[in-house]
Amino acid sequence: MCGIFAYLNYLTPKSRLEVLDLLVTGLKRLEYRGYDSTGVAIDSPDNKNIVMVKRTGKVKVLEEAIQEHFSAGDYSEPVMTHIGIAHTRWATHGVPCERNSHPHRSDDGNGFVVVHNGIITNYNDVKTFLAKRGYEFESDTDTEVFAKLVHHLWKTHPTYSFRELVEQAILQVEGAFAIAVKSKHFPGECVASRRSSPLLVGIKTKTRLATDHIPILYGKADDKKLGPDQDSDSGKPQVLPRSESTSEFMPLEEKEVEYFFASDASAVIEHTNRVIYLEDDDVAAVRDGTLSIHRLKKSLDDPHAREITTLKMEIQQIMKGNYDYFMQKEIFEQPDSVVNTMRGRVRFDGNAIVLGGIKEYIPEIKRCRRLMLIGCGTSYHSAVATRQLLEELTELPVMVELASDFLDRNTPIFRDDVCFFISQSGETADTLMALRYCKQRGALIVGITNTVGSSICRESHCGVHINAGPEIGVASTKAYTSQFISLVMFALVMSEDRLSLQQRRLEILQALSKLADQIRAVLKLDSKVQELAKDLYQHKSLLIMGRGYNFATCLEGALKVKELTYMHSEGIMAGELKHGPLALVDDSMPVLMIVLRDPVYVKCMNALQQVTSRKGCPIIICEEGDEETQAFSSRHLEIPRTVDCLQGILTVIPMQLLSYHIAVLRGCDVDCPRNLAKSVTVE
Ligand code: AGP
Repeated sequence: MCGIFAYLNYLTPKSRLEVLDLLVTGLKRLEYRGYDSTGVAIDSPDNKNIVMVKRTGKVKVLEEAIQEHFSAGDYSEPVMTHIGIAHTRWATHGVPCERNSHPHRSDDGNGFVVVHNGIITNYNDVKTFLAKRGYEFESDTDTEVFAKLVHHLWKTHPTYSFRELVEQAILQVEGAFAIAVKSKHFPGECVASRRSSPLLVGIKTKTRLATDHIPILYGKADDKKLGPDQDSDSGKPQVLPRSESTSEFMPLEEKEVEYFFASDASAVIEHTNRVIYLEDDDVAAVRDGTLSIHRLKKSLDDPHAREITTLKMEIQQIMKGNYDYFMQKEIFEQPDSVVNTMRGRVRFDGNAIVLGGIKEYIPEIKRCRRLMLIGCGTSYHSAVATRQLLEELTELPVMVELASDFLDRNTPIFRDDVCFFISQSGETADTLMALRYCKQRGALIVGITNTVGSSICRESHCGVHINAGPEIGVASTKAYTSQFISLVMFALVMSEDRLSLQQRRLEILQALSKLADQIRAVLKLDSKVQELAKDLYQHKSLLIMGRGYNFATCLEGALKVKELTYMHSEGIMAGELKHGPLALVDDSMPVLMIVLRDPVYVKCMNALQQVTSRKGCPIIICEEGDEETQAFSSRHLEIPRTVDCLQGILTVIPMQLLSYHIAVLRGCDVDCPRNLAKSVTVE
């Protein structure tokens, strides 16, 4: 929902201008997470104060402001130790404006400044508590209360370390957060923490790190909370015992070292591939170049340490290359990304499938009562796209659910349910909340994600990583086709011992082996799709009709058109046409219909004739050489023939291209559509 980034150099000379450049570049890598306003905070040249620059709009606006604000001079002098923090925002509390942009500060002197991703749900209580103690608020955000709470604790507990102050503040707030805090009272120190929002720490040293683990240090704490009237008698807040080092390990101590705190790896990979994924309620603190990780409460299944992992991502994966937009690049990556999804899993020679991440759970899944596929947006559509095949090959009831509605209904869940949580980011709040709901009720949790170390990935019992590679464009494309393939592979695994299904499985496996080339063939329609976009981009709406294995493509295509072009669009089940939607059809309503030679072909032709007999002039997606179908419209896109259950992979590509070209023609921001963010980490 927002992107946070902090950079700390210790005994590593960097000028403030270089630090600012690092901060801005980090924000650019995170911009797809939210982009309605931005801000940075660094030390003033005399090291006595903190300087902030905040702007409404995208990172580019901030970059220009920094160039104006920080003329060379003192800012070009190298500094051996420094911490800078930065933020790109997707507004949850308070409209997008400079006043509400992060970093937020504790007082006019910028004593403490904080960047935050998430929502502090009890911020009103904390605000009341602080207002009673003389604090005045300058923004409409929840984040500001955190900065002022740390300041209040600092005033009332001057002996506390920076890390202890932040720990105490964390205990008072509820909700989701990933935060990084900087203070002029604790120069060169940074404290960061997370709860339900992602945060990782990148480590860069001149020599190889002496260890692969950072010990977790524990303290004693109970969870007494500050309340608005909690300490009215004493006038002092209830403060918890300090956390003390109870671990035999030592924190990571390095000479020249640089630390990068970021919402995700795309902001870190160009600096280092050595990262630590923080867990909920970890408090990471850097002091005198030493990184330590603390937890206030020890739980039985806590490990002794956090592992320093090596990122597999490569820098070019997060760059646009020769494309104009990340989304365009990711559409054209699909011949490769679908192969990567199958790599090491589908053995075409032996017609075998191995999904290592769920292999040991297959016997349990086969005994389950039903499968539930839960997700949001495009991820939900991948569930719709594969439901029919899953029913066929598993012979189990399959429910597909929008995570938000699933939670609203308090849907009954049982121990013998198997619940799949499909999420590209692995951080979508609705999907994560649904996962926790099902896990509490004893269901088996299977994660289908594209982000290693994500919350959904880590909280699932087992899962499949879709291996689509980083998806930067807010509008999901290659993740959809890889989610689709992952669920098809699962269906094939579940039916490998069903004799009656072997012919069907063989047909699907053979079709999978041709898929990459067939996607390439569909991508060659790009210029033809661009021409069709010219017919459509000035219209107000687009109806997309289909059924059976292609209904999901209608839903997904309509979502792409909506989120990229801001045009209205609707995916319509062709079988429903005469129950109402046909009233929308006339000679001016843009319609696109998917009519392929599959079990529902005749019914789709009926729908096509219903549309054309009302003077509709549909664009038709049909199979190569299908002249009978093409005869119904002068505008058609021919795609290669594949097995029915995989048609949705090929029919979605023209929809992705069409929405992309309409967006470009309408002058929309393809990678950062208005009002949206790549990872919706708030409910
Ligand atoms: C899809 O183009 C959108 N960006 C959005 O619907 C997205 O699919 C949805 O928010 C779910 O995201 P997730 O896959 O990361 O959970």
